Amino acid sequence: MGETSYGKILISEEQIRNRIKELGAQITKDYEDKKLLLVGILNGCVYFMTDLSREIDKLLQIDFMVVSSYGSSTSTSGVVKIIKDLNRSIEGFDVLIIEDIVDTGLTLSYIKEVLEARKPNSVKICTLVNKIGRRKVDIDVDYVGFEIPDEFIIGYGMDYAEKYRNLKDVLIIRPELI
Ligand code: IMP
Repeated sequence: MGETSYGKILISEEQIRNRIKELGAQITKDYEDKKLLLVGILNGCVYFMTDLSREIDKLLQIDFMVVSSYGSSTSTSGVVKIIKDLNRSIEGFDVLIIEDIVDTGLTLSYIKEVLEARKPNSVKICTLVNKIGRRKVDIDVDYVGFEIPDEFIIGYGMDYAEKYRNLKDVLIIRPELI
């Protein structure tokens, strides 16, 4: 795999594009008769959300949340605060949460609980990458782009200290940059 000045390519732009096509086709099928609302968790979801939503071939709506977790720069503490909430009611919608990465699972288990209390028809989770080995809470992730090892990654929406989000590939960050 290619080496770049920011790190080693773990998932290439082309692999991402191909996998998103597959996920989009699957979601199109699964939500055929449903009132689909994609809820992106900013900022990490931006690229994944825009690409995935356009591979879903049905009417849907989109909305976004911003949450912050109090933790160190490379891990989550589990204390989550909603900085920006949805602008609407989700009652009766089939909500699909769109995340860049599930790591400990603490952020998503909190968000899922909050959204489920608002009487949607269903709440499911779609993540581009899944670091399953790091889970601290048991959470069902319904759609996974890629299972990855326990490495700190950047690119395609994912950051380190708010940098590197706009890289086209997903990279394992060079240790010297941390
Ligand atoms: P969780 O609550 O531990 O599942 O944390 C999920 C959040 O932590 C993600 O939305 C990311 O913002 C951040 N995160 C976890 N691992 C990484 C990584 O390897 N690179 C970049 N961000 C990460």
